[in-house]
Amino acid sequence: MTSDIPVSLASKAVKYENFVNAYENTFELYNKLVFNLIIPLLNLELNHTLLDLGCGNGSCEELLSIQRPYINIIGIDSSKSMISRALSRLIPNTEFIQGDCLRLRFADCFFDRCVANFVINSVKNPEKLISEAFRVLKPGGIFVFSYPILKDSNDLLKILKKSLRKVKIGPKSSKIIDYSPLCQAGGFYQVRFFDTNVGVCIKSGNEACDFLAPLKDLAKIKDKELYKKVFENISEFVKTELVNGKALVIGSRIVIAYKPY
Ligand SMILES: C[S@@+](CC[C@H](N)C(=O)[O-])C[C@H]1O[C@@H](n2cnc3c(N)ncnc32)[C@H](O)[C@@H]1O
Repeated sequence: MTSDIPVSLASKAVKYENFVNAYENTFELYNKLVFNLIIPLLNLELNHTLLDLGCGNGSCEELLSIQRPYINIIGIDSSKSMISRALSRLIPNTEFIQGDCLRLRFADCFFDRCVANFVINSVKNPEKLISEAFRVLKPGGIFVFSYPILKDSNDLLKILKKSLRKVKIGPKSSKIIDYSPLCQAGGFYQVRFFDTNVGVCIKSGNEACDFLAPLKDLAKIKDKELYKKVFENISEFVKTELVNGKALVIGSRIVIAYKPY
């Protein structure tokens, strides 16, 4: 098998001890591009208070405070390092709290808007995330959330899953989950979604491996040979897509849900 993977890549994950830094060099840009699509959907008005569930390193708050300087923002995240990074940004009208978005310490009907960008896919209990968002939203409030959908063959995360499956360590399928029924069961109405692809600037299999290396799925592989094989698979799948003239993408679904008056 031909491969453009440098030998040093086999130990790449070990170097990414601090995921916050790695994240800032890779996924942050794509999360922000999706967040940019979410901002207008929130229909934010003067003095609205918005809750960002799983706010990460605060990069989305930075965008929000520039585009909607007239709102108040509270970001909550379970990761101490993400919250420290968020606090270091000194964003006006914004508070960051370390906590669990499945057990919010806010009163019922406190927020005008609620958002969760790429979080529902990483929590154990998505129903609870939805029910907490519903509980803390005021009547008439809007909840918008996004998650990766791994739809197309040129989707970078789909390629990652396929590469893991090929060495029998990946999840069996990449079925797209529809959270609309959960939102409706949780009390939301007019639940709508759309799918979108964000292009990823990757020109080789090697660059794709570099981009994906900090992800937990890869970082937890301890067997060096297995690790190398996964990278070879990624590289091979990526090259096929590029040869076929396809740019690599990250596919996402954005869901909009309203709390009744
Ligand atoms: C992929 S990151 C997205 C971060 C941010 N929303 C963005 O778009 O850049 C997912 C974030 O969700 C946080 N998270 C996961 N489960 C959580 C939970 N139960 N409570 C709070 N935060 C959680 C993680 O710590 C991580 O920062």
